[in-house]
Amino acid sequence: MANKQFDVIVIGGGPGGYIAAIRAAQLGFNVACIDEWKNGKGGPAPGGTCTNVGCIPSKALLQSSEHFDQAGHHFAEHGIKVEGLGLDLDKMLARKDQVVKQNNDGILYLFKKNKITFFHGRGSFVKAGEAGYEIKVAGAAEESIDGKHIIVATGSNARALPGAPFDEENILSNDGALRIGAVPKKLGLIGSGVIGLEMGSVWRRLGAEVTVLEALPTFLGAVDEQIAKEAKKAFDKQKLKIELGVKVGEIKSSKKGVSVAWTNAKGEAQTLEVDKLIVSIGRVPNTIGLNAEAVGLKLDERGAIAVDDDCKTSLPNVWAIGDVVRGPMLAHKAEEEGVAVAERIAGQHGHVNFNTVPWVIYTNPEIAWVGQTEQQLKAAGRAYKAGTFPFLANGRARALGDTTGMVKFLADAATDEILGVHIVGPQASELISEAVVAMEFKASAEDIARICHAHPSLSEATKEAALAVDKRTLNF
Ligand code: FAD
Ligand code: NAI
Repeated sequence: MANKQFDVIVIGGGPGGYIAAIRAAQLGFNVACIDEWKNGKGGPAPGGTCTNVGCIPSKALLQSSEHFDQAGHHFAEHGIKVEGLGLDLDKMLARKDQVVKQNNDGILYLFKKNKITFFHGRGSFVKAGEAGYEIKVAGAAEESIDGKHIIVATGSNARALPGAPFDEENILSNDGALRIGAVPKKLGLIGSGVIGLEMGSVWRRLGAEVTVLEALPTFLGAVDEQIAKEAKKAFDKQKLKIELGVKVGEIKSSKKGVSVAWTNAKGEAQTLEVDKLIVSIGRVPNTIGLNAEAVGLKLDERGAIAVDDDCKTSLPNVWAIGDVVRGPMLAHKAEEEGVAVAERIAGQHGHVNFNTVPWVIYTNPEIAWVGQTEQQLKAAGRAYKAGTFPFLANGRARALGDTTGMVKFLADAATDEILGVHIVGPQASELISEAVVAMEFKASAEDIARICHAHPSLSEATKEAALAVDKRTLNF
């Protein structure tokens, strides 16, 4: 029997893949999407890392743990008495699983709505033919399908420390970190990057004693220094213990827990004994089982699929997007690339502006930024003006009872064009969108300063920081 034919086959149903499939279907293509992720019952669970063991479950647990922390430590200042506060971790984890399932189901519904053929199983290259590529799908059954265009969106996997493979019992990746069955008395994390801080926050709020061991001597080196410093102060207050400039040595795991030998910044030998250890030292592009060799698909030196600025690979009509290619490993970056590739296949001019991809760390305070940091501008020798506004001087932040942090604007000294916006504080994840829009339209700080912002709102701090660039804040 002849293979089923598709205009576009997407391998991987994470945020990059499923969004690429939807956009391609909207553009009139006959589309298939293959994803191998299994839910607890062995059924399909599209949405990739982001939906199953990343963005969505981590934000669900961050929200639940934040409620717990608020009830335990902050409600009293609002005159709310809480007695007999307790934690039902099973229920908290079940709620998180339910949120994940709603997202999995939502994607399956979107596949139906957009008439996308979904295959549950592993997709791999078989061969290139005259009219496209043959892809094998290995699921409950095995079949081969043909596609004129292939979009590879196979994501990434957690990087393990040499000599300490993930067992998801004691030594945990992001997967195990999101389903620890009882709050550990002592929790260790290796790496104080995004996962280290988010997961460290969840379990700290729920009562664990948390120690994070970070190799770099600076805290959050990619973040604007002033913002990182402010965030560090807040984490210190929360007793999230972060050791910088460490060298991690031997890791021993036993029934009792995990023992980590490490050297501190002064070169002194230390041992960390913990019940569980989360290793969050970055992620590696995933091409396992893709059989890229069969068609000669080129990888780069990091093992990512080599692509150009337009996500074109070394092979005609094979595209790759998201975590499996260069660039930031973020869901919204993967989605934007998915849309752009579908549009390019349709002969349009899809485009991703890497200069305006926002970053958010969903801790308390939240940290969000877009564009360049002050240290990057200095290093590039660019003449700039900086303006900051503290949430302490914002009426809405005071009413919320959350005045940590600031908004910071960096603008070109001559033209006033916004070059970067950095926020640490309440709702930074939402506030950053205004800055992204402004930068996408090449706005000046003055443009934001002259726009009417609702009062009282946290967004007034954004306007005031824009005013601060020319030293004309009104409320500070
Ligand atoms: P993935 O989401 O990894 O999806 C790839 C999919 O392809 C998977 O379902 C996989 O099973 C499937 N697959 C792989 N190979 C095959 C094959 N051969 N055949 C069939 N299927 C295959 N990003 C944010 O922007 N915001 C956040 O808040 C955020 N939080 C995160 C929290 C954690 C704990 C982690 C680990 C990551 C987080 N990220 C976040 C990053 C985000 O999850 C990734 O950037 C995003 O998932 C990348 O999307 P993708 O489509 O490229 O790959
Ligand atoms: P990361 O790159 O953010 O941080 C890894 C940290 O580990 C770095 O600070 C690094 O210096 C440190 N490190 C590396 N090797 C080490 C070693 N041997 N010993 C001690 N420290 C070491 O990676 P992370 O946290 O694993 O997250 C992976 C990616 O997932 C992120 O980069 C991000 O792209 C994505 N993500 C995004 C989120 C968001 O957008 N809110 C949330 C979580 C993850």
